[in-house]
Amino acid sequence: MQIAGIKIKSRAVMAPMAGITDFAFRSIVAEYGAGLVTSELLSANAIVRGSEKTIMMLPRPDEPGPVAAQIFGADPEIMREAAMIVSRSSCQIIDINFGCPVKKVTKCGAGAAALKDIKTAGRIAAAVVNSTDKPVTAKIRSGWGAESVNAIEMAKTMEDAGVDAITIHARTAAQGYSGEADWELISEVARRVNIPVIGNGDIDSPETAVEKLWSAGCDFVMIGRAALGAPWIFRQFNELCSTGSYGKISNSEIAAVILRQMEMMTGLYGERNAARKMRTRLGYYTRGLTGAARFRKAVTKLESARELEELVTGFLLEKQVSATYGGTG
Ligand SMILES: Cc1cc2nc3c(=O)[nH]c(=O)nc-3n(C[C@H](O)[C@H](O)[C@H](O)COP(=O)(O)O)c2cc1C
Repeated sequence: MQIAGIKIKSRAVMAPMAGITDFAFRSIVAEYGAGLVTSELLSANAIVRGSEKTIMMLPRPDEPGPVAAQIFGADPEIMREAAMIVSRSSCQIIDINFGCPVKKVTKCGAGAAALKDIKTAGRIAAAVVNSTDKPVTAKIRSGWGAESVNAIEMAKTMEDAGVDAITIHARTAAQGYSGEADWELISEVARRVNIPVIGNGDIDSPETAVEKLWSAGCDFVMIGRAALGAPWIFRQFNELCSTGSYGKISNSEIAAVILRQMEMMTGLYGERNAARKMRTRLGYYTRGLTGAARFRKAVTKLESARELEELVTGFLLEKQVSATYGGTG
């Protein structure tokens, strides 16, 4: 499968997630076989202003990729300038965010607010497409509200503007994350445009990913929240597609992923900030495991890599050893 000549090795791709899809997490999910990863959403204004913090969040040459850089903005001219700058980074694709429902973003007309003004959204997309040789994708929602579902019109406008693929998170901006994603709508969008369609919303297992991919007839599925504590979901999806079943993850592999993420995040943010950011991540990684509540309580004060290693080893590895011996003896 391809998006405008970029080889996408899996039909499951990682969702862009602010505060989550940094270089460390992107590398991990890409190594687990995600077809495509995307940066956190980046403000076009900040890029054009030369904000160091935002520039640091751009894709890097040393990531496995393929990787997209996601930008948001309301002004076609600023988006054009930002896309030119982003183009010079190591991204293979530029993605435009037309789906963010957060007030800070929509109050300026960016993100999902573009769904209220499709004409301007089309001008923004055309400006970005014309500013770069790299493929351009757009991520949309179903519409602004229940009374104004316009994903098909929006998708066609994107196609006319020269966008190479479209992702649809099939909820309205008003819904936020409530209710269920409307996969019928994804299916309809896939039938109505001639560019690849990436369906997104509520995929919670490798089985659901396969089921949604085939039932909606879209080209790719995008996984967000389910990958937060299970980046290996992409390996499992790929195995399921090729062999009809997949292997479970062992506690020792979970521990190794956590420690590697901490190591990479230390490189990005420094040890103490990395440890603090890891606190919530550890909650995702241990969700559903016996004793996780106690473990989560223990990590609320996490400050260093050494503490993390001790806690993770104690919780995931020693418990596993005792469970093994408990089971056999
Ligand atoms: C914490 C969080 C951060 C997100 N950040 C972004 C973002 O930066 N850009 C974007 O397009 N979507 C963002 N999203 C939306 C996801 O990409 C995705 O569309 C949504 O979570 C639905 O997919 P899921 O049901 O698989 O999680 C975010 C979602 C969450 C939960």
